[in-house]
Amino acid sequence: MDRILIRGGNRLTGKLPISGAKNSALTLMPCALLTEEPVTLRNLPRLADVDSFGHLLNQLGVSTEIEGARPSDFGRVMTMRAGRLTSTEAPYDIVRKMRASILVLGPLVARAGEATVSLPGGCSIGNRPIDLHLKALEAMGARIELAAGYVKAIAPGGRLPGGRVAFPIVSVGATENALMAAVLAKGGTVIENAAREPEIVDLCNLLLAMGASISGVGTERLEIEGVERLHGATYRVMPDRIEAGSYACAAAITGGSVELVGAKPDDMRATIAALIDAGVTLSTAPFPGFPTDMQAQFMAMLCKADGASVLTETIFENRYMHVPELARMGADIQVRGRTAVVRGVDHLVGAPVMATDLRASMSLIIAGLVAQGQTEVSRVYHLDRGYERLEEKLSAVGADIERVGDG
Ligand code: EPU
Repeated sequence: MDRILIRGGNRLTGKLPISGAKNSALTLMPCALLTEEPVTLRNLPRLADVDSFGHLLNQLGVSTEIEGARPSDFGRVMTMRAGRLTSTEAPYDIVRKMRASILVLGPLVARAGEATVSLPGGCSIGNRPIDLHLKALEAMGARIELAAGYVKAIAPGGRLPGGRVAFPIVSVGATENALMAAVLAKGGTVIENAAREPEIVDLCNLLLAMGASISGVGTERLEIEGVERLHGATYRVMPDRIEAGSYACAAAITGGSVELVGAKPDDMRATIAALIDAGVTLSTAPFPGFPTDMQAQFMAMLCKADGASVLTETIFENRYMHVPELARMGADIQVRGRTAVVRGVDHLVGAPVMATDLRASMSLIIAGLVAQGQTEVSRVYHLDRGYERLEEKLSAVGADIERVGDG
């Protein structure tokens, strides 16, 4: 298995290109299921999760074609065609590797009248149930059956009627599934307490480009009028606000200065405000609050700040798996329940470390950039799920970082 070696101490300076957003890509790709016409996504990041989603779509009968992918390019263009679906099932071996597979549920039931998806189970950042996805589809008229680790959603008569979905808590994925199901329903749907993440806006914009009728885009109340059919579209994936935020933390911890080329500051206000204010008290919250996907990277940065900071993780119950690893590098962090108190230390020390999820792995990279000596991050496959060519981007701005294979 590959590892990443970092020798800390270099200041990062220069230009760093920001890729297309992973979490946007993973909700734009299933939109291809909603039409027999081609859907083309530009600026699609080259990530393991995007490849896995492509394979899942292939299994359902969607063809995927990649253009203009020179090894030196960032991003790709992918055209997906779902002329005729050959399956409506997302099997366990794919879903267990990539939770975002659940996002085929809504579009499949909308297009084919039924969908079967393996239950994803827990993951390293928490339980992550899918009850809200199922309740939303039920509220729109789907019949839900659970059997042998799979969930089946059926639209009686082949098409969902639509309905009123009121989420008790904000869920990005459940909002996405509800939206993709609603656009082809017979009638109208209202989604209340919808997530407002920029990735949801990106999804709405693609659906609008495909001929959907949606109002309230970017607000907590979305109104969708179902249409008979949707057509193809070409759409550019938004820049990755979490990748950009991660590299901002990396630059800050090294005392450097990087230009995040292509980043969209409007989508990153809470992160930017927190960066300006560092040495802070912060709680993660749904957008426009501070993103849970930035918590680990921010914590790593605060390990070297002057004074103490207090972080509270309100979205996922188990998202502090990076803390013991950062502590092995000399960080002073105390966790009580959902709150972590980080006291800045003079120096961090390189060590062999590993993390159990994507953002936690990135926090170890950030700490490694400033640690004395060498840090060796294993389980690099987590990083490959969400950071396009990380070591190449960081070495181009001056980091001493390389990927090595076993042997
Ligand atoms: N929740 C439920 N029931 C549900 C769905 C969610 O209780 O049916 C709970 C979750 O357990 C969690 C909270 O609601 O406590 C919010 O979860 P949400 O559904 O918003 O998360 P998600 O859609 O599963 C996406 C991102 C995550 C990101 C979260 C929160 C994708 C593919 N994933 O997950 O990204 O942390 O929103 O912003 O879009 C990452 O990129 O590293 C990552 C984990």
